[in-house]
Amino acid sequence: MLRTTNCGALTLAQLGEEVILAGWVQKTRDKGFMLWVDLRDRYGITQVIFDEERTPKAVMEKAQNLGREFVIQVKGTVIERESKNPNLPTGDIEILAADLVVLNQAKTPPFTIENETDGGEELRMQYRYLDIRRTPVRENLVFRSQVSLAIRNYLSENGFIDVETPYLIKSTPEGARDFVVPSRMNEGQFYALPQSPQTFKQLLMVGGMDKYFQIVKCFRDEDLRADRQPEFTQIDCEMTFVEQEDVLQQFEGLLAHLLKEIKGVTTGPFPRMTYAEAMSKYGNDKPDIRFGMTFTELNDLAKDKGFNVFDQQELIVGIAVPGAASYTRKQIDKLIDWVKRPQIGANGLVWVKCNEDGTFKSSVDKFYNTEDLAAWAESMGAKAGDLLLVMAGPSHKTRTQLSALRMELAEQMGLRKANEFAPLWVVDFPLLEWDEETDRFHAMHHPFTAPKPEQLELLDSAPGTVNANAYDLVLNGNEIGGGSIRIHDAETQEKMFSLLGFSPEEAKAQFGFLMEAFQYGAPPHGGIALGLDRLVAILGGQETIRDFIAFPKNNSGRDLMIDAPSTIDNAQLEELRLKLNLD
Ligand code: AMO
Repeated sequence: MLRTTNCGALTLAQLGEEVILAGWVQKTRDKGFMLWVDLRDRYGITQVIFDEERTPKAVMEKAQNLGREFVIQVKGTVIERESKNPNLPTGDIEILAADLVVLNQAKTPPFTIENETDGGEELRMQYRYLDIRRTPVRENLVFRSQVSLAIRNYLSENGFIDVETPYLIKSTPEGARDFVVPSRMNEGQFYALPQSPQTFKQLLMVGGMDKYFQIVKCFRDEDLRADRQPEFTQIDCEMTFVEQEDVLQQFEGLLAHLLKEIKGVTTGPFPRMTYAEAMSKYGNDKPDIRFGMTFTELNDLAKDKGFNVFDQQELIVGIAVPGAASYTRKQIDKLIDWVKRPQIGANGLVWVKCNEDGTFKSSVDKFYNTEDLAAWAESMGAKAGDLLLVMAGPSHKTRTQLSALRMELAEQMGLRKANEFAPLWVVDFPLLEWDEETDRFHAMHHPFTAPKPEQLELLDSAPGTVNANAYDLVLNGNEIGGGSIRIHDAETQEKMFSLLGFSPEEAKAQFGFLMEAFQYGAPPHGGIALGLDRLVAILGGQETIRDFIAFPKNNSGRDLMIDAPSTIDNAQLEELRLKLNLD
């Protein structure tokens, strides 16, 4: 070993011991006759002192030539520091250097490797290996490893078997585009990288594996955001002979276990909300329930009072913002501008101040009298001092816009507390959703999701009204998991494919293997997949998953460090019998 201990371990308890440390030079302070080096490794920082009087001259000279990020080995004695640093676990001691070996030199790094760095996002991604030396990034990766391990332990203790499924597969329709891989040995043919192991885990159930899990990479060619990467990791699970309730219990157990184990937080039974309720109360199928400001429909109270803007609209809906009646005109105008931005796309925002003295002041005083506004406030459960914000327009769009405003306000008001955890299940998702663009139904979850058994007949007469045995696990306003009870008979599966617009030939070509498997004794089964990156980020008190991935891609799907994707040379293209046609 090149060291006897690490840079986070030494305290006064080791006073007088001879040690060898190895690590990176975080910084040096040179006073001529005395020189200090902050030596860093994965475990911490230890101060090393080189002192003209006590350190050999040759060693002193070597120390004077050290630069940032040099890799060094130091031999010395643990001594008590004169000026202690209470912020460092090793802050009471320092190492009096007797010998120094430079293991490797380093160019000056392009950004400072400190907790707060001067490096911008792009630069840090390009030199990610340097970024990883920074404590916050390293801690995030260590944290991810701890969460993964706790998940493996829980699932393993609950009888789940870890099975690997292939990455070179045929496309699985999960709603995004596939990444494809050309096959050299099969000219003109392509594999797809899995968007999830969905069909394979179902086939494992047909194979009798009973309880499966896998912490697995999935690939989706979709637009990227803070909570989406083109390759991400799922905790993918499937169980045999279960109903929805069994899956919910099992995975509620998993999240409760993680919250307890990792965060020391004890949770009661997770609330459950139907999709319909989530949409009407929060305008969102992944509501953040750490705070209120739930929606109230005002159609009955606000229409036919001479305010044309409202009269024409399908939905009038509002929220009461606690304590915000004191907002200035300028603050309110800022909110109005915010909802009018193209990303939100609202036409405007009606506001009503519920003043502390019981009076009201609003942007629609011309059309609504005090009794009208008092009735709004009452139906919204508003108190004196609250600000009502009301939007109107087509139902779905308006709810989505108000939901964005609710989240923005919560952010501004500090209501989205990182150390507070509010999990819930959203259940009873519609089986299908109508797509105006393609003029046909899409599976809301995926085509293998089972309709509610009691609604089976409606599949023929009113498919759009059928709900599914599908559920999402939501944590702090983020969808961290989704799953369903699956169809396990060939007949229902065929019907589902036909509702989704597949001809029998197309269904056979794409999913013949699954329908065939269903004819050989497929058991009832269901499961879920949790997004590991999202789960880890939220448990870590953040929402940007990039920060919890060792080598993430940027928002254009590029890895700036290895510069991928990239062109390939003609010989490689020829071998694959591919021709680029870029017109
Ligand atoms: P679903 O598509 O809901 O379900 O995915 C499961 C979970 O994976 C996470 N997730 C993502 N995380 C980061 N980046 C992405 N691009 C991304 N896409 C999804 C989310 C999501 O809840 N096969 C089904 C599961 C099943 O039915 O069992 C599936 O993949 O947290």
